[in-house]
Amino acid sequence: MAPTQHLWWQHAVIYQIYPRSFQDSNGDGVGDLPGITQRLDYLHDVLGVDAVWLSPFYPSPMADFGYDVSDYCAVDPIFGTLDDFDVLVAALHERGIKILIDYIPNHTSDHHPWFQESRSSRDNPKRDWYYWRDGKAEGGPPNNWLSVFGGSAWQWDEHTGQYYLHSFLAEQPDLNWRHPEVVDAMLDVMRFWLDRGVDGFRIDVAHYLMKDPQFRDNPPAPPDAVTPYKSLADYDSQLHVYDLGNPDTHEVFRKIRRVLDSYSAERPRTSVAEIHVFDWSNWASYFGVNLDEIHMPFNFGLVGVEWDAIRIREVVDAVEGALPSGAWPSYVLGNHDEPRLATRFGAAYAPLAAMLILTLRGTPTTYYGDEIGMHDVPIPPERARDPWGKRVVGLGRDPERTPMQWDSGPNAGFCPPDVEPWLPIADDYRQINVAAEEDDPRSLLTLSRRLLALRRVTPALRGGSYAAVERVPSQCFVYTRRTEDDMCVVALNVSDIDQLVTLEGMTGTVCLSTYLDREGPEDLQRLILRPHEGCIVQIESAPPTP
Ligand code: GLC
Repeated sequence: MAPTQHLWWQHAVIYQIYPRSFQDSNGDGVGDLPGITQRLDYLHDVLGVDAVWLSPFYPSPMADFGYDVSDYCAVDPIFGTLDDFDVLVAALHERGIKILIDYIPNHTSDHHPWFQESRSSRDNPKRDWYYWRDGKAEGGPPNNWLSVFGGSAWQWDEHTGQYYLHSFLAEQPDLNWRHPEVVDAMLDVMRFWLDRGVDGFRIDVAHYLMKDPQFRDNPPAPPDAVTPYKSLADYDSQLHVYDLGNPDTHEVFRKIRRVLDSYSAERPRTSVAEIHVFDWSNWASYFGVNLDEIHMPFNFGLVGVEWDAIRIREVVDAVEGALPSGAWPSYVLGNHDEPRLATRFGAAYAPLAAMLILTLRGTPTTYYGDEIGMHDVPIPPERARDPWGKRVVGLGRDPERTPMQWDSGPNAGFCPPDVEPWLPIADDYRQINVAAEEDDPRSLLTLSRRLLALRRVTPALRGGSYAAVERVPSQCFVYTRRTEDDMCVVALNVSDIDQLVTLEGMTGTVCLSTYLDREGPEDLQRLILRPHEGCIVQIESAPPTP
């Protein structure tokens, strides 16, 4: 049986906030830190989340909306001040909510003073803080590595006559983590924020940190290769064996972990890391052989999954099977880089998706607005902001980053009526918003709150073991969650027609349906699930486990 005593991050529900889009407090059409502070009652009293993760709020030229940092230890004026940050942390902690912040170690902005120095001359002391290389003798960049955002990963710098490496935009030069001063400086950044009270970090593109020291060319990808990143066609034409994930990545992760551990006596700190790896044993290696690396490598298996019961189960079973002993799983369905789940799976399936992610074993991270059913918003070309989308039509991430829909008033309560929000607001925000859904007993927000509340008081859902139930219809994904004294079955119908599920030898009570209209004892030998219905059943008796 799985233990029920866990550290806070193992039973937490993490809520991702994209600060630009949550709440504008100063009338410039862009969300900010005081805006988030204003909305904490929603997070605590209405929704009941345990932790928030804030996407970047650091000073930045915003070439990649904050993932291009020009000062790691400050707040961009558009988001507020360090004092605003301190107020936010205190207000979260008063409510018992933990805070994780984005840590972006792979690259800085090209405006960062470190890079400005580095590019100033070949003999500048910070030259080797970044990767500078000569081109090939016959001309052209040093090797065939590609940028995730398109084109070569090498940018020619006229001033010093060399190329520098950028795995993402040219405005995001990669830091050289083999330089001891870079390691020291970047670990100090963590200490700066830990000293200010943060409870952990979400680590951006963590497995990109270490690259092949010989800078060998990547081999071409075979036609059936699994692509690691939603990206440009040319990026996926290679196998990324040399430009990321070099074995010494593990040593860096151990250093990061030691910093977190050094703060954990007072209260445990944690890390989640963005690692787009779908070979589950490779992915699992980032927990560390002695569980001394990343607390929770993000598991993106369900982000790209085909919306089909068998495929979903395959991902969950593969992840569960790959976890090293003692490692803790995590699940993600959406974030600021992916189409919203109401768009991906369809509005009818959004409740089922919510039940799935909030009842699997492991820590779920949910994306702001998904709890009310926000969908992707079509962005007219003249209002496109995301550099990726500006380069390649269709790859833009603006549609999933639009302002939070708070109420049916002008600008959905995100910013004042006379201000243009930084991205357009969904046309149907008068129906899909917090205020409207809060009072509606059948809304997605009501379901989300009830799922969170149930998870909090149900030991089996918080920390129990997971096992898939066999002999169910192929369009249903059914699993048990159990501790020694508590057992639930979660039965999900991933189809548009009724399904009959038989839970052999079990008796129990339905405590929540995604339709929000069904509670009480049921004949579990004939549990009928309506189209795209999910049910959580509290089990009273079950055959002994073999
Ligand atoms: C991560 C972020 C994404 C950003 C990229 C480069 O994938 O989630 O938004 O563009 O890193 O920093």
